[in-house]
Amino acid sequence: MRKPIIAGNWKMNMNPTQTTEFVNAIKANLPKFDQTESVIGAPAVDLPALLEAAKGTDLKVAAENCYFEDAGAFTGETSPKTLNEMGVDYVIIGHSERRDYFHETDEDINKKAHAIFKNNMTPIFCCGESLETREAGKAEEWVSNQVTEGLKGLSADQVSSMVIAYEPIWAIGTGKTASADQAQEICAVVRQTVAKLYDQTVADKVRIQYGGSVKPANVKEIMGKEDIDGGLVGGASMEPASFLDLVHFND
Ligand code: 13P
Repeated sequence: MRKPIIAGNWKMNMNPTQTTEFVNAIKANLPKFDQTESVIGAPAVDLPALLEAAKGTDLKVAAENCYFEDAGAFTGETSPKTLNEMGVDYVIIGHSERRDYFHETDEDINKKAHAIFKNNMTPIFCCGESLETREAGKAEEWVSNQVTEGLKGLSADQVSSMVIAYEPIWAIGTGKTASADQAQEICAVVRQTVAKLYDQTVADKVRIQYGGSVKPANVKEIMGKEDIDGGLVGGASMEPASFLDLVHFND
């Protein structure tokens, strides 16, 4: 039985004061961590405030990115070693915004996955096709290839414990959600890819999220799909009542 995981991705929104206020507004009403995992991914500058506010609550904390080296002359980058020392649980990697705007390659993202595990955190690895790729009938092949490249060299135990987020680029921030069936179709491809690369036991354990215009009105239907274990949510995660509705999709 895979534990549901609903994660907000605030992107480059919110400041430390808003972060503290947000957590104070939700912390008493979060589902118990052993039933549903609630996660917020915040900009690096907000993480100290987020970690402080989340202490002793059922909220887990994600960074939105990190570098693949622990330390060195990498001006402006964020060390995964430091994130772990601070108490961060998850790191989102391979988001399409990072692939597209910051030219991250499959190889960079794979190195980040290794660095995150080395530093005792869990990657939330994102994949997903553009509209052009979908319309060319190549979505399955594209996503399967991203997963294959992104997981290179990871152990079966590591992959069993990680999270893979399928986020079709055409559904991000557009209000245009993939239908629950479309989301399920590609999430199943992600799981089959993991089964092919590892085995069915690993594939049965890895948690797969769908992301792209998830909101309180559609979360239940999406979460009802067989291969979807969670949501990675941008816009609808930035308002406390909406975030609480999402994490309580099951109520
Ligand atoms: P939206 O929920 O705003 O579409 O964003 C999805 C996303 O990119 C989460 O990582």
